[in-house]
Amino acid sequence: MSNVKLAEGVYWVGAIDWDRRLFDSLIPLPDGTSYNSYVIKGSEKTALIDTVDPTMQDVLINQLNRLGIENISYIVANHAEQDHSGALPRVLERYPEAKVVATPRCKDMLKDLLMIPEEKFIAVNDKETISLGGRTLEFIHAPWVHWPETMLTYLREDKILFACDFFGSHLATSDLYVTDEGQVYEAAKRYYAEIMMPFRTTIQKNLEKIRDYAIDIIAPSHGPVHDKPEFILKAYHSWVFDEPKNIVVLPYISMHGSTHKMVEYLVEALVQRDVTVKQFDLTVTDIGKLAMALVDAATVVIGTPTVLAGPHPNVAYAAFLANALRPKLRFVSIIGSYGWGGKAVEQLAAMLPNLKVEILEPVLCKGFPKEDDFKALDSLAATIAEKHKEHNFA
Ligand code: FEO
Repeated sequence: MSNVKLAEGVYWVGAIDWDRRLFDSLIPLPDGTSYNSYVIKGSEKTALIDTVDPTMQDVLINQLNRLGIENISYIVANHAEQDHSGALPRVLERYPEAKVVATPRCKDMLKDLLMIPEEKFIAVNDKETISLGGRTLEFIHAPWVHWPETMLTYLREDKILFACDFFGSHLATSDLYVTDEGQVYEAAKRYYAEIMMPFRTTIQKNLEKIRDYAIDIIAPSHGPVHDKPEFILKAYHSWVFDEPKNIVVLPYISMHGSTHKMVEYLVEALVQRDVTVKQFDLTVTDIGKLAMALVDAATVVIGTPTVLAGPHPNVAYAAFLANALRPKLRFVSIIGSYGWGGKAVEQLAAMLPNLKVEILEPVLCKGFPKEDDFKALDSLAATIAEKHKEHNFA
C-alpha cells in the first residue's frame, strides 16, 4: 500500500490477503480480504490496534519494523477472533513490554484461544480511556458485532473510530481509503449479511451508541478505510433499521425440470404484479449473494423437489443458513414437485424457527405442473403482491 498514513503518527500496518477465497471454511471471498492493523504514536506511548491473521504475522512485523517502531506499550484487541488476534503471540514476542488491552470477556477468550497469560492483560470497562501522551484512546464496548466480547476504540483527538469487524468488508485493495463506493457497498453488504445480520437488534443499539461521537474516519479491520464515514453509516442504518422491500428471494433446486417450471412460472407471475424477484439456483449459488439478497427481502419462496422423502439437501442447507442469519423477512412459502409423497414442507418449515414469518400456503404438485398447479402459483403470487402492498413494502 503506497499511503499508510491516516494522520500524523497514525499508520495502517495491516496485511492484504489478495488470494484468500474462503473464510471460516464457509464464506466465499470473491475479492480476497485484508486484516487491518493500525499503529498510534503518542508523545509518551505507542499503541497497536488489533493484529492480523496468523498466516500473515510476518507481514505485520515487517510493517512495524519499516516504521521504526521499537516499543509498543499497548496492543488493543478489539475482538478475539483469530483473523485479528492470531498474531498476538508473535507481536508479544517482538514487543515483550506490551500489554494487551481488551474487554474482560475478550481477555478470557484470548486466554483460551491463544494461551496468553493473565499478567499480559489490561481489562477495560466501557468508556474507559488510556492516554498515550497527547492522544486518548476511549474503549466503547460493542457486544455482538459479531461476537459477545467486542469493543471499538475511539481516538479522541483525531476523531478516528477503530471499529474492527463493524463497517468492514472483505475486499483486498491497494487503496487505503474507499475509492469505489459501489464496489465497497457490495462488499460491505455481503459482509454484513454473512456475519452481522443475525445480531441486527444489538447492532441497532451499537449504532445508537456511537451516534454522539464526532467521527472523521472509520478504520475497520477488513477492507478500505472510510474517510467519508457517512457513506457506510447510512448503509448500515438502512440494513438494520429499514422495513423490508418489495422483494421475493427464490432459492431453488430442480432435478428433472418440474420444480424449475414452477419457479419460472411463479417468477413471471410475481413480476407481472410488480414484485421484484431474485432467483437462485442452489447448485451454483454463491451463498454470499443469497445472504445479501436476504438483507432487504420481504418474502422467501423456497423451491424444492422431494428427494429421499424430504427437501433436497442443498435446499435444507440454504434453509438452515437463512434461519441462522435471521433476516427481516415477513413471509415464507414453499413450492415444488414430488413423485410419490414425502415430508418436504413439514421438514423445511421445522427448520425455520428463528424466522418470525407468516407461512403462505405452499404449492406442491405431483410430477410436472399442470393447469391447477399454475392456478395455485398465480394465487400465491397474488397473495404475496397483496401482502407487500398492505405493508407498504416499496
Ligand atoms: Fe474479522 Fe470476526 O473477525
